[in-house]
Amino acid sequence: MTNRTFTMIKPDAVENGHIGSILEKINSSGFKIIAMKFTKLSLEKAENFYEVHSDRPFFNELVTFMSRGPIVAAILEKNNAVEDFRLLIGSTNPSDAKEGTIRNLFATSMGENAVHGSDSDENAMIEGAFHFSNEEILS
Ligand code: CMP
Repeated sequence: MTNRTFTMIKPDAVENGHIGSILEKINSSGFKIIAMKFTKLSLEKAENFYEVHSDRPFFNELVTFMSRGPIVAAILEKNNAVEDFRLLIGSTNPSDAKEGTIRNLFATSMGENAVHGSDSDENAMIEGAFHFSNEEILS
């Protein structure tokens, strides 16, 4: 799985009409989309996905935000996918994100930061399996 990562285009970026621009950045940066869906998380599903953050003070804000509107979930393939995708999206806080990164271009705040990218190969596998069955992954 070292060549795969998992991403979501978050509700803020969908609401602001950035799906196409973000997918274009992903494609032109050499990532191959091997699974993708336009969907909406229930509050319960968002709580499950972000369970690792359940003790953090921003947890309620995070799961309310992530369940407020549609998202795009995708599994991406590229050599060194996890690390390269995190470079492409930039820092969690968009005000720290380097110029040209997805969060620099499209995010508005630390909480509403346009995209998710897995932080390890292990989490990429867990997060991809959370959203997709094996039949939905077309590598
Ligand atoms: P992401 O890394 O995709 O997944 C965890 C999310 O929690 C992170 O993006 C941010 O959207 C959110 N987050 C992290 N830190 C904070 C914070 N201090 N305040 C609000 N949201 C945060």
